[in-house]
Formats: sequence, structure tokens, C-alpha cells
Amino acid sequence: MKIAILPGDGIGTEIMAEAVKVLNALDLSFEMESALVGGAAYEAHGHPLPESTLNLAKAADAILFGAVGDWKYDKLERQFRPEQAILGLRKHLGLFANFRPALCYEQLTHASSLKPELVAGLDILIIRELTGDIYFGQPRGRRTAVDGHFPGAEEAFDTMRYSRPEIERIAHVAFQAARQRSKKVTSVDKANVLETFQFWKDVVTEVHAQYPDVELQHMYVDNAAMQLVKAPKAFDVIVTGNMFGDILSDEASMLTGSIGMLPSASLDKSSKGLYEPSHGSAPDIAGKGVANPLATILSAAMMLRFSLQQPAAADRIESAVKAVLSAGLRTGDIWSEGTKKVGTREMGDAVVAAITGKTITTKT
Ligand code: IPM
Ligand code: MG
Repeated sequence: MKIAILPGDGIGTEIMAEAVKVLNALDLSFEMESALVGGAAYEAHGHPLPESTLNLAKAADAILFGAVGDWKYDKLERQFRPEQAILGLRKHLGLFANFRPALCYEQLTHASSLKPELVAGLDILIIRELTGDIYFGQPRGRRTAVDGHFPGAEEAFDTMRYSRPEIERIAHVAFQAARQRSKKVTSVDKANVLETFQFWKDVVTEVHAQYPDVELQHMYVDNAAMQLVKAPKAFDVIVTGNMFGDILSDEASMLTGSIGMLPSASLDKSSKGLYEPSHGSAPDIAGKGVANPLATILSAAMMLRFSLQQPAAADRIESAVKAVLSAGLRTGDIWSEGTKKVGTREMGDAVVAAITGKTITTKT
């Protein structure tokens, strides 16, 4: 089993070190090889996704990714910005199915900005289509308008588009995932305005005919954004396009009060995948040793389950994380009165200790 380790920028390197430590504690035989990506790769090789990094990612069975980005690259031409690394990996590896669970840990119910009763026990799964939509649709660019409200003016444009097979395959992924859960899918669209999403809704409805045991509900994206903060527990699996999924998954993650806890998986058609925390590179706290490594550690667990066929090892990591939380250990982002504030490395060490059966001691 070969794992490509791509720490990236900002807190990426710190959180990845802890995830690697946890993987090593499992006593499974992995080959891990790291490479630069994002701003770090731009500095060293002049490109955020160098050929060598892409080749390593292609050759690996799974990819563990940290985070990319820093404000200092905002002025670079688009193709050299760190974000292009993750977009390029998704595109070149065909990682079309993005799983973003929003899970509210019992121990962290009070960290949510919503009332505890609205989020206690929250467990929803956002499945975001990841290689189509307005993110990748061509044509796009800048030009002089020939029509519209201001002919002759400078304008910019992007193209929202989805083909039937793109919608079909993500719909299958969502219905199959729902079968493993409470058998309910909400497909989020904007069919009342957009041709692309009327088509989305039609195709999802067609695919649904093959899953009579799963309940399908359609919802407009604006209403979905509202329902997510009104009654998030009414959702189980949400399936949607690339852009709506980007927005709704950030919203959903915040309901749990702890974006530092949420892993994600981006899979191709054969379940090879890239695994990354749902949060970003947090340059403001980079290098301080305070970032929460748990989302990356939990991403490693998802990787073991989805791409490396090691469900028992995944369970061990997830139980260890729960044990550490129950023992009262918290990084700053999830800290509350009466718990013990720890740094990135201490948190990683505690997870390793829980995995290897050592007791976790807390001093408050
Ligand atoms: C995400 C991020 C990316 C996206 C950025 C970094 C390109 O926001 O993974 O949600 O928009 O997809
Ligand atoms: Mg996003």
C-alpha cells in the first residue's frame, strides 16, 4: 500500500506530521512518500502542482493531503496560485465524488453556534460533485461584451455545465451511500432558475428509479442553506453540484462547531482517493504548534476505510479520537472551560497513546 503524503502550506506540515505518527502506530505496512504541493511547491519548483508531485499522486493507492494557500500568493497569476494544486489533483485524478461528513461529537455539542438541541447527535453527509459545474466548465475568461446590459464594456464569464454521465455517477454514489445510512437523499439544485440544475434534477430523479428503498427529496439551494441552520438533523445524505457543495459544506461543517474535526474524501470511479481535512491552511496560526490535527488524523481513518480496505484500523483511529476527547483534551479551537488545552503535538501523541493502549492522563 503506497500513500502519497502531501502536507502543503501553513498548518499543513504540522497536522500531517501527527497523522503520519498515527498511521505508523498502527503497525501496518505502508509505504509513505511525501512531496511538495501548493505554495511550498511553487517556491521550490515554480508550480503549485509539479509534475513529480502529480506523478507520485497518480502512482499511489491513496493520497493524504494537508492544506494549501497563503495570502502572500493572492497576487500571483491564477495558474500559479496554491488552490490550483488541489483543483489540478481533482481534475487529473478524476476525483469526482467528494464526501464531506458533518458530525457533531457528543463531547463538543456546546462548541456549535447553534443551540445544543439542534445539533446534538448531528450526522449528515454532503456528497459534492467535484470535477464539473462552473468550477471547470469551458469557456471562461474575460472579453468585451457584444450584448447584455452594457455592450462594449469589459466583462468576465464562466460556464455552468453538467453532462448526463457526470450527474448519473454522482447520483449513484449518493444513493449507495444512503443505503448504508438512514436511506434518505436530498438533492440540492436551483432548477427554478438554471437549465443546468433542471437537468440535474431530472437525471437524479431517473437514477432514483433504481433505488426504490431510498427516499429522495429535491430542495432548492437557498432553501437548503436555510434548512441547514433551522433543522440540520432533518438531513441525512445531501447530494449536489460542485459550487453549491462548496458553500453548503462549509455551512454544515460550522454547525458542528469544530471545522478542525472534520475529514473529507475525494474518490475516483475505482475508490482511489485523496483525503484531506475540511479546513484550510490557517496561515495565521501556522508554525505555532496550536492547530488541531484531528481532522487530518480522521482523514487518515477515512483513507484506511475507503481506499486501503483496512476498516478495523480505521475504527481504531476513530475510537482513539473519541477516547482523547472524552479524556478532556482539546486544542484551542475546541477548548472550553473545564477541559485541558493541548497543542498539535500533544494531541497527536494522545491519539497514538490511545491506539497503542496506553492510558491518557489529563491535568486541567
Ligand atoms: C474546498 C475549497 C476549494 C474549493 C478551494 C481551495 C479551491 O474551498 O475544498 O472546499 O473551492 O473547492
Ligand atoms: Mg470550500
